[in-house]
Amino acid sequence: MNAKEKNLHRLFNPETVAVVGASNNPSKLGFHVMKSLVTGGFAGNILPINPKGREIFGIPTLPSLHEIHQTADLVIVVVPAPHVPDVFRACAETKAGGIVLITAGFREIEDPNGSRLHDEIKAIADKAAVPVIGPNTFGIVNYATHLNATFTPEFSQNPRGGIACVSQSGGIAHLLSFLAMRENVGFSKIIGLGNRLNIDFPEAFSHLAEDDATRVLMCYVEGVDTPKRMMAALRGLGKKKRVVVYKTGRSRMGDRASLSHTGSLAGNHEVYLGAFRQSGVLTVDSAEELLDTAKALDRCPFPAGNRVSVLSAQAGPGIAATDTCAEVGLALATFRAETQAQVNACLPPLALRTNPVDMGPAWYNADALSRLIRAVMEDPGVDGVLLLTMFASANAAIVEGMRETLLRWHQRKPVITCILAPEGIWDSEVYDLEERGAIVNYPTPERAARAFANLYKSGKLGRKQREIHDKLQGDKPWR
Ligand code: COA
Repeated sequence: MNAKEKNLHRLFNPETVAVVGASNNPSKLGFHVMKSLVTGGFAGNILPINPKGREIFGIPTLPSLHEIHQTADLVIVVVPAPHVPDVFRACAETKAGGIVLITAGFREIEDPNGSRLHDEIKAIADKAAVPVIGPNTFGIVNYATHLNATFTPEFSQNPRGGIACVSQSGGIAHLLSFLAMRENVGFSKIIGLGNRLNIDFPEAFSHLAEDDATRVLMCYVEGVDTPKRMMAALRGLGKKKRVVVYKTGRSRMGDRASLSHTGSLAGNHEVYLGAFRQSGVLTVDSAEELLDTAKALDRCPFPAGNRVSVLSAQAGPGIAATDTCAEVGLALATFRAETQAQVNACLPPLALRTNPVDMGPAWYNADALSRLIRAVMEDPGVDGVLLLTMFASANAAIVEGMRETLLRWHQRKPVITCILAPEGIWDSEVYDLEERGAIVNYPTPERAARAFANLYKSGKLGRKQREIHDKLQGDKPWR
């Protein structure tokens, strides 16, 4: 680990955090940064820096970084751009660990002064081996230590889990976080890369590769300045973590917008997608699909193949899921004779008993459903199950009734569900089954089917990448 990498570790795991530009004024971002740190439960030292000298959130302020008596492992900077070079010099002189630079007004603005300031602060940070997240970022969150180093205190409400959200856009990171809160998807870290002064995707990936709390990297990408480095970093990650990427800029207009957003020109979308594929990384087409896929990657084993069984307690959702399966490259498994006999024993002859299975005639009989699910999951020709059940008064006890079967199976093959009821009904049962690793639940059959397909595709891409990697490792040098 070089000095900058060591400092990046300090930045994410600080004991002392200083906020330059901390404020008592709720209309200033420096107020909200302090609120995030204080209310988020961070147990380390928080040092507000403000030359006006008073208390902020009950903590006495200090006039400058030179006045603090311990070294800051992390300095969050929220002062206007022209003041930033002086703050960076103070960071270097006081041997600060790393910087989260929230301030905007650098490379992304048309004024050439922005680029000049960018170059000036980059030279200071690089010389001192100080990693900088930003500029033009909302910040970072490390859920393991309750460090919310952003101007959004609400990020602290996200449940904890194995997904690190790495985003080039503040807006998309906020969107993903709020969606995740509503859908019980847990995060390990959030990283807003912003304009990437000297911490870009590859540096973030190297750090996360060693992060035990992170199983999945969920990345939002607009443009990449050093594609070769990016792809090499992704290939390096492949063995340790699961990765999914949402790359925008499909349209020429979207592409141009990303230049003025974070100062990067996106370029040919197809080339990007090909490069991600070659690096063994799955790409998706929307923010919703990004989160859905990350959730499945975090909580499911990879299926051995694409042969899925659709088990639906009502016919319609099963048909909708089957359509999506066909669109996204999944195949419907053919049951072995033994399985089919067991399915037939649970359902009357009128029902659709081959795959997809319309469990309709038994939709409020938990015992029959459990036997049926068990028989299908144990079929070696089935790589995973899509289980769909809508609430009705008569089947209120059905989730409780299937619970034991699902817990015991514990996703030896993926069990992706769409179990849906009015708010307040089944919520705790579904939550409990998800927390215990028995199911992964989605609000629609189409999203459930797509998540299964992406889980399968991600596993396949990773395996292919590893085969190529292993072959190249064993190869003689090229001449
Ligand atoms: N050291 C310490 N504190 C300083 C300082 C210095 N060198 N210079 C100024 N301050 C104090 C100010 O007195 C003020 O505190 P006060 O409220 O007690 O008066 C506070 O720091 C902020 O300075 P101010 O000049 O009021 O700036 P501001 O809050 O209006 O704007 C930014 C600062 C960083 C928020 C603004 O320049 C900016 O970049 N906004 C956009 C940020 C953004 O959108 N980022 C991307 C998100 S994805």
